[in-house]
Amino acid sequence: MIRRLMLAATVVALPLAVLAADARRDAILADYAAKARAAAPGATAFSVQRGEALFRTKWTGGDPRTTSCTACHTADPRQPGQNAKTGRPIEPVAVSVNPRRFTDPATVEKQFTRDCRSVLGRDCTPLEKGDYITFMAGQ
Ligand code: HEC
Repeated sequence: MIRRLMLAATVVALPLAVLAADARRDAILADYAAKARAAAPGATAFSVQRGEALFRTKWTGGDPRTTSCTACHTADPRQPGQNAKTGRPIEPVAVSVNPRRFTDPATVEKQFTRDCRSVLGRDCTPLEKGDYITFMAGQ
């Protein structure tokens, strides 16, 4: 609770930093959009619904300890999570509570690679990555 209040205070105090973070997230999304179109010329827009389904679906094919993104990020993206493998705490993934989310391209790519393989047993496609970020940006 205290942490959440501190985060809220940070957001109020640093509107410019938040705006800059949005531009960086937009650039990441634009990159995934270009890759999605290259893979499938018919790909039009990212989808909040598909992003939510990716987040909540119980997948088979990955690590049985982590059949869903929610295994570590919890069913409520605004809540802190916990790593189902290591027990370590994870900050909320919803952009509304954690505006720094999805702003560093290398971190985003690294985690998508690790987490999609852990949950789905394969890499996520650029379309899936864009859908996921679009969903979280509205949470
Ligand atoms: C084994 C636990 C675990 C599971 C399951 C998991 N994640 Fe994560 N995720 C993490 C950890 C740990 C981090 C890095 C710490 C952090 O960002 O707070 C992270 C961070 C991320 C990030 C980077 C966020 C940012 O700020 O840039 C993305 C993207 C991500 N996860 C996507 C997913 C997706 C998509 C799924 C489901 C397919 C998923 N995660 C499932 C543990 C997990």
